[in-house]
Amino acid sequence: MRAEDAPLIRLEDYRPSDWLIDTVDLDIALDPARTKVRALLQLRPNPAGRAGAPLTLDGDELTLDLVMLDDVALEPAAYAVSPQGLTIHAPPRRAFSLRIETTLDPGANTKLMGLYRSSGVYCTQCEADGFRRITYFLDRPDVMSVYTVRLEARKAEAPVLLSNGNLVAAAELPGGERHFAVWHDPHPKPAYLFALVGGRLDHVRQDYVTGDGRKVELAVYVEPGKAGRAGWALDSLVRCMRWDERVFGRNYDLDVFNVVAVSDFNMGAMENKGLNIFNDKYVLADPLTASDGDYASIEAIIAHEYFHNWTGNRITCRDWFQLCLKEGLTVYRDQEFSADERSRPVKRIADVRTLRSTQFAEDAGPLAHPVRPRAYKEINNFYTPTVYEKGAEVIRMLKVLIGAEAFSRGMDLYFERCDGTAATIEEFLDCFVEASGQDLADFARWYEQAGTPTVVASGRYDADAASYTLQLAQSTPATPGQAEKRPVVIPVALGLVGRSGDLPLTTLSPAMKADGVVVLDQASLSLTFTEVTEPPTPSLLRGFSAPVRLELDLGDGDLLRLFSADSDPYNRWQALQTVATRALVRAGKGDRSALDATAADLADALSGFLGGPTLPDSAFAAQVLRLPAPADVAREIGRDVDPELVHGVHRQLTAAIGGALAAQLMQLRTGLSERGPYSPAAAPAGRRALRNEALGLIALGAPAQGARLALAQFDEADNLTDRLAALAAMTLIPGPERETLIGRFGDLYAGEPLVLDKWLMAQALIPEEGTLARVKALMGHPAFSLGNPNRVLGLIGGFAANLTQFNRPDGEGYGFVADIVIALDRTNPQVASRLLGSFKSWRMLEAGRRAKAETALRMVKATPNLSRDVADIAARSLG
Ligand code: BES
Ligand code: ZN
Repeated sequence: MRAEDAPLIRLEDYRPSDWLIDTVDLDIALDPARTKVRALLQLRPNPAGRAGAPLTLDGDELTLDLVMLDDVALEPAAYAVSPQGLTIHAPPRRAFSLRIETTLDPGANTKLMGLYRSSGVYCTQCEADGFRRITYFLDRPDVMSVYTVRLEARKAEAPVLLSNGNLVAAAELPGGERHFAVWHDPHPKPAYLFALVGGRLDHVRQDYVTGDGRKVELAVYVEPGKAGRAGWALDSLVRCMRWDERVFGRNYDLDVFNVVAVSDFNMGAMENKGLNIFNDKYVLADPLTASDGDYASIEAIIAHEYFHNWTGNRITCRDWFQLCLKEGLTVYRDQEFSADERSRPVKRIADVRTLRSTQFAEDAGPLAHPVRPRAYKEINNFYTPTVYEKGAEVIRMLKVLIGAEAFSRGMDLYFERCDGTAATIEEFLDCFVEASGQDLADFARWYEQAGTPTVVASGRYDADAASYTLQLAQSTPATPGQAEKRPVVIPVALGLVGRSGDLPLTTLSPAMKADGVVVLDQASLSLTFTEVTEPPTPSLLRGFSAPVRLELDLGDGDLLRLFSADSDPYNRWQALQTVATRALVRAGKGDRSALDATAADLADALSGFLGGPTLPDSAFAAQVLRLPAPADVAREIGRDVDPELVHGVHRQLTAAIGGALAAQLMQLRTGLSERGPYSPAAAPAGRRALRNEALGLIALGAPAQGARLALAQFDEADNLTDRLAALAAMTLIPGPERETLIGRFGDLYAGEPLVLDKWLMAQALIPEEGTLARVKALMGHPAFSLGNPNRVLGLIGGFAANLTQFNRPDGEGYGFVADIVIALDRTNPQVASRLLGSFKSWRMLEAGRRAKAETALRMVKATPNLSRDVADIAARSLG
């Protein structure tokens, strides 16, 4: 079948499986080129399915050696094998067993789906539909089975043999060359949660006792010699397990929990039951090879995959349309964990930045889709910021709307009622309807309707009446396949800020809830606050209470007032971002007249903020110093964007602020110097963030001083964070010193691929015309390989995120990335398709670039034998 003709799979076509598989016995003899898989499946008719239906098991690139039904070989006429599966035409209308034998070549598996080898280690990745690359199976999440897995291998090649569940037996085989291990997982699970690992691995381990008294052996497995870098992941695991007990009342449910780091992995990490497999960049950490950001990501992703044990594994998804049921909810849970471990406002700001730069961008382009899509051709293309990040925002809004207590009761009900099942969003929401007594039918529209709503707010103060009237209106732009939009339920957390803090909120409006939340559930709303004794400044969408764009009728003066006086730290940060964004949008459309004045205002505000009587929290201050990125400005402009102009005005504003503040920032940096050894804890990491944010501003505002500071910092640094910040600052300052530093950095980390990824990316992001040639040259670097997703996404993904150079006016940036997508598609379609997603904002560009991007996309689309992954993204991007 040609990829373009792949069937569209629709939510409304869901039918329960006609067959169920109660138990799976796997016997797998690992071999680099000829791995033998013997499966014994116990099947029975599904009472909810069609009686007497044929049985079609999914398969993908499998070699079938044998199939037996109740231990009798099947006649050739009794079954049919196709590239997509194995059909048994007339299976018995009762329970029966199937014995299926297949042979795999894990060494040749470059897609990194199913069973493959990564640096000699056997490992698996089965979500979403990779299990069918191991054996024929009902590879759908609503078929849940109990697995027993026997693994056998040469001891020298794979001394460590792991699978899901608990270890029940292990021994050497006669002769002493081979050994085996048997794992049993008592919890029924869908095939996508199956995993095995075999290889030479070191590990660190720790005992853990759950809140309900279960003794658990925790272990983190890494490449030989890297156990010294596994401690932070193990420590994070212990902390997130305690947190889930305390905050969600969830205990772990097996005797072992293993985490394995592998170096070739398409995604970040995978929540296989009891055996999480990780991209090693989200496990390995020590001060000289991992940045503060890496430490924070490792903590968050270890937690995310662990949290799936309840939200994903114990309760899984009925079908892949329900993906947000596990992913949105689990992202919400990992965000809350990080907020509790670190600074809540800073975490919120960081998450909102990510939401806007990824999800808002997706929602504004041709790939926009609802949190719960209605149809797909390739499910791997729907692990998106919309399903994940917007999915998490929907959970957060639900909590704001029904209150923390009802939310907690609803979660408990969900865990109790849906445990052991493959559930839907409807079943999830029903638990909150019951717990809160509220009707959530309108709220559910957040799952169905794509696009980012805009809320327009305006207010009027009446001094005589001592009243303040607020008007709110919402609208959502059309998105592909959804021309008409209806209002959604938007919780607007708000305050009225007076001269000395928040004013009381007195209103008779039913839209106002007790705790400072107005619910906008119609196209528009007007509400009047009384007893407002002074003209207030409204502080709206506090804590970013809904994933919307907010348009305010406040002037810069009001916003600067909020920056200094708002009690909500999120909105303090947002106020300054809004001032900067507005000025940059205006300038990015060609009117630079107000840019210098805004720069002066912002510099004044920042100077007062940094030089005030009490020093602000460093991590928060670092966020305040960081202006919106050029890509954020481009997205706000929305059409006919000239990336070069946007970049230019962004640089002008940053340089003006940096220049005005250079002396003060230098002084600030001195005060923030760390004594003592490196610690990844939030407080010192926050101080480093602020010092390095200051360095970036100085580098643009006073380049000579910036270069001196950066080079000195590079030499003195005892950690990767400061070295990387020095490198990043120097990339802003062209010249021989920059090239020398790039060379030194590359030599220093020649043996550290994960650090080289950052080095490659830093160069790919240089906003200069020479960057394309530089990136092409770096593809010849000995560390680079198209076979490793981290290398590709570091160098080529970095380049595709370079606003001015990917969007070169001559179109060469598009052509380069498109050629790589086409080449990569032959070996790893998932990574190729993710890279092609870099074109998602092409329609907002000015006409010249738009035409060139379209040409590149059409070239990809016209390529013969594309994967379904790439064909789908190409078609939707152009659609
Ligand atoms: N279940 C996913 C991993 C996955 C994604 C498997 C796509 C198959 C296809 C896992 O729980 C996950 O969400 N991982 C994220 C990291 C997380 C912290 C958001 C990832 O891999 O990017
Ligand atoms: Zn996940």
